[in-house]
Amino acid sequence: MTKSQKTATLTVHGETYELPVFSPTVGPDVIDIRKLYGQAGVFTYDPGFTSTASCDSTITYIDGEKGELLHRGYPIDQLAAKSHYLEVCYLLLYGELPSAAQLEEFETTITRHTMIHEQMHYFFRGFRRDSHPMATMVGVVGAMSAFYHDSTDVSDERQREIASHRLIAKMPTIAAMAYKYSVGQPFVYPRNDLDYAANFLHMCFAVPAEEYHVDPILARAMDRIFTLHADHEQNASTSTVRLASSSGANPFACIAAGIACLWGPAHGGANQACLEMLKEIGTVDRIPEYIARAKDKNDPFRLMGFGHRVYKNMDPRATVMKQSADEVLDLLGIDNNPLLQVAKELEKIALHDDYFIEKKLFPNVDFYSGIILEAMGFPTSMFTPIFAVSRTVGWVSQWKEQLADPQHKIGRPRQLYLGETMRDYVDIENR
Ligand code: CMC
Repeated sequence: MTKSQKTATLTVHGETYELPVFSPTVGPDVIDIRKLYGQAGVFTYDPGFTSTASCDSTITYIDGEKGELLHRGYPIDQLAAKSHYLEVCYLLLYGELPSAAQLEEFETTITRHTMIHEQMHYFFRGFRRDSHPMATMVGVVGAMSAFYHDSTDVSDERQREIASHRLIAKMPTIAAMAYKYSVGQPFVYPRNDLDYAANFLHMCFAVPAEEYHVDPILARAMDRIFTLHADHEQNASTSTVRLASSSGANPFACIAAGIACLWGPAHGGANQACLEMLKEIGTVDRIPEYIARAKDKNDPFRLMGFGHRVYKNMDPRATVMKQSADEVLDLLGIDNNPLLQVAKELEKIALHDDYFIEKKLFPNVDFYSGIILEAMGFPTSMFTPIFAVSRTVGWVSQWKEQLADPQHKIGRPRQLYLGETMRDYVDIENR
């Protein structure tokens, strides 16, 4: 990391401090405040991290104003059109596009790690059948720490790599098993002759009673959903993984923490919440009522699948996802589905509404992904687990990057304390 010649000046309580400034390869400069407390005795305040860089990274870059998303410099629309998920995984993990031989070796490694320890099957049986698959995933992924002891030493680079491969390879198996368990069907073992996305669809939808043929167009759409969600720099779940890992916790525990964070409706849970909202709206004539609710300051309702902390013009993932939605619906012959009509009309109305224009709210990736997944036959409860499968590579890439940095230290934010000052304990009979 190189400091630029620029500095920032801060005056606190009449004293002036020169603060170093870092210039990134692209994007806004970053003021280095690490020594501020030592020098000036003050903290900075930024609860939602809206102006704070929590780390340096070379993996993913987002320009929210331009609606640009780059992985290792490559634009997401090019990756979605020309690449595929496992190649993007390699790119995120290792920094460069693989040669043909490197890709083959990587694909072989991932494919050979897809089965989970047979004894882990018992974990699934411990959950209620109506458990949310995300609940099952948090538990089972955390439990991987109890099975793969030979890849939990985070100080060993090779063990970190093996843990990364295991997580990327086993996450679809775990998500598919969580689904199968929830519908009372037998688990379907992974198949090494299928690619990553086709294997996932097979594990979800095949039954032992008959042959299941994975449609290549659906497999391609699945692969694209994985690719579009692969990484998104320091979002809430990735920051959770990094913070959990900063204490030296093992990779499976850290990724389980990431899954827990992703579950929330403001983050990965938005795809489920969005489809449920479309179902609740139900018919086009009810849209104005929901638009009015979204605009009402006294109503906590938000249009799910709209808005983004970083993107303020368009979500480039949404553009590709929308095309994919059209392809899948066309293939499946779904063109007058009421849900789709509500989605299309809602999108049209919101995009022309002053409130949404002024606040720069437009459909994000989750608005369209749910429509595709529903059309493929996934229940809404599987939407966020599928996001977790896709994002695993982002989490492990960021985790590996963090641990490879010799300067990394435990994350320990400070606070603006607004509670009572010191007071004496009062015995219970005197309160
Ligand atoms: N519907 C109605 N109003 C909204 C919405 C929405 N979806 N999103 C933001 N606003 C309003 C909000 O009320 C606020 O208004 P005001 O300035 O008058 O108080 C203003 O826009 C700014 O909102 P914010 O909450 O300060 O913005 P944020 O950057 O903290 O939140 C967000 C970003 C994604 C959490 C939010 O837009 C949201 O809750 N969207 C719905 C959930 C969703 O679709 N999330 C998926 C995000 S993409 C996938 C992922 O990252 O996991």
